[in-house]
This record gives sequence, C-alpha cells and structure tokens, in this order.
Amino acid sequence: MNIIICENYEEVSARAASMVADVIKKDSACKLGLATGSTPIGMYSILSEMYKNGEIDFSSVSSYNLDEYYPIKKDNDQSYDYFMRENLFSKINIKEENIHIPNGEAKDANKECEDYECTVEKSGGIDIQILGLGVNGHIGFNEPANELISKTHVTDLTVSTIKANSRFFESEDEVPKKAITMGVGTIMKAKSIVLMVSGKNKHEALSAILNGNISTNVPATLLNLHPNVTVICDKEAYYGNDL
Ligand code: F6R
Repeated sequence: MNIIICENYEEVSARAASMVADVIKKDSACKLGLATGSTPIGMYSILSEMYKNGEIDFSSVSSYNLDEYYPIKKDNDQSYDYFMRENLFSKINIKEENIHIPNGEAKDANKECEDYECTVEKSGGIDIQILGLGVNGHIGFNEPANELISKTHVTDLTVSTIKANSRFFESEDEVPKKAITMGVGTIMKAKSIVLMVSGKNKHEALSAILNGNISTNVPATLLNLHPNVTVICDKEAYYGNDL
C-alpha cells in the first residue's frame, strides 16, 4: 500500500486528480471507477478544470460508479446519478453511453445488481477505482458485518451511515435505507485503487487500514490484500488532530 500524506484536503484533491489524469493521458479509452460523497468533490472540480484547459479528454473514457441509493429517482438531487452529473459529467465531454451508475429506479433491484456486475465485468477491468472511506470503515456501501458480499448487491445502510449521510438530506427520515453497491470483490478487481481520506473523523478507520490487519468489520481493511492501492490522506485523517 502506498501512502501519501497531504497537508490538507486541497492537496488530497490535487494528488488524486493528477493520478486520474495520468491514467487518462496513458489510455484515452480507460475505465474509471468513481465515488460520490464529499471527499471526491474537489478532485472532480480539478478534473473539470483540466478538461476545460485542454489537458485531458474524456471522449473515449468510460465511468463506473460504485453505488446508488435504492430506491431513488435519478432526478432527486440526493441521488448519486444527480451528484455525478452536477459535479463532473455536465462539465466534461464524457459520452452518455459511457456512463454507468447502478439504477436506483430499477423495478427489480436484484436483476439490476446482476446486470451491473456484468457491465463492470464486460468493461475488461476498471483501470483506476476511486474510493472514499466511511467513518465506520465502509467502502462503497459495503458496511461492517461478519460476512461481506463479493458481487454487486442490495444492502441495508447502517444506522451510522444513515446518520452520516443525513447531512445532505432535510432530515434523517429522508435518507433511503438501502443502496445498490459494487461488492468488495467487484472493487478488488480494479487494476489500481485510490483511497481518498480527509478529516479527523476518518482517523479511526484509516488507522485500522494502516495497521495491516484485515477484518470484515472494517471493510476497507480488505484493501490490504490488493496489489496496487494508494491511500491519499490529509494530516488530520492521518494524525487524528485538528491542525
Ligand atoms: C460513495 C461511497 C461511500 C463514500 C463514503 C465517504 O459513492 O461509496 O463509500 O465514499 O461514505 O463519504 P464522504 O466522502 O462523504 O465522507
């Protein structure tokens, strides 16, 4: 595991954006695995700028998002579909047919999971998977549990995740209770993984990863088994203090 300790959130964003940009420059038809949440917003803004300045071109790039609430309408401003369009896709030249996000409107959620797993499989492999880290150590919506599910599946969000995500909704009651998420196996098939971590509230989960032990109760610790993971964190997350 490579670890990059940054001064602050801005540097985490810049480092991650530069890793994604390098992959795009090397292979214009690369496959990006993308995350939502607060953490990657700065990186998406830098990537949008780089596109605007002509440094990178998304016309042949494909994207595969990690997860989506279920059920949720795409036009709900809290859906991950909406988030991605707002923060990245509307600002770059990615083709609509190259965007893949689990469908929170699907009638049959289990069928949607099977189809999404096939879509990722058929991509030939995600070149770079961006991950954020849950306060409880989740990746995607693979929540702490005695057993984890390998493939894309429907999952119940934990009370702690519902609480953490309620900051984006009017009230906790409005947070959907389920999500469709890539499984840990789907994530681990990516050729390279970048875990972005910012803020002292992530310190405990980050420390669990960095001590090298593996537990399904902190799903992100499984990343220790992947051969090409880069953790980009800020000092607050690494040291657990306000700086
Ligand atoms: C989002 C996702 C989640 C978040 C995690 C951290 O697509 O899969 O695992 O990455 O909950 O969220 P933030 O960045 O909001 O702290």
